Amino acid sequence: MSYLNIQDEKLIPVVMELNTLLADYHLYYQKLRTFHWNVLGKNFFDLHIKFEEMYNEAQVKIDEIAERILTLRHHPVSKLSDYLKISSLNEASGMTTDQEMVDILLNDHKLILLQMSKVLEASETAGDEGTIDLIGAYTRELEKSSWMLNAWSKSTNDQLKQDEVKS
Ligand SMILES: [Fe+2]
Repeated sequence: MSYLNIQDEKLIPVVMELNTLLADYHLYYQKLRTFHWNVLGKNFFDLHIKFEEMYNEAQVKIDEIAERILTLRHHPVSKLSDYLKISSLNEASGMTTDQEMVDILLNDHKLILLQMSKVLEASETAGDEGTIDLIGAYTRELEKSSWMLNAWSKSTNDQLKQDEVKS
């Protein structure tokens, strides 16, 4: 018998969207490792450490998403070949500039946030409060991380220009 107060068939769309999010996170995780290893230049120390922090956070989320799927009494997709098929993210080589790495990650965040909104939509329809709580928090955290990467991309001159417009 189910220990959940949600009808099983209502959870099928939630699990489908969660599995896509799980696939997205695997590609994102591996991309962060690639960038952690291959980043070059004056920003090496900052970005090498930042990317490690980010992939460690992604690793925790990967486990939580998979275990949420199990809690919903379904099975998480676990083959790398399936992740590549169902994720909307692309792989990266790492042979690119630091700025390009940050731009690629910002774009991935956008795709992951879009997938999170699909999970939230499906969980609202199902009345799945647990998933709404989990993915709602992830959304907030990823948006904050996007703000930080975006701020890193700017130069202090951008701030000066903004101040000139205001005055
Ligand atoms: Fe390392």
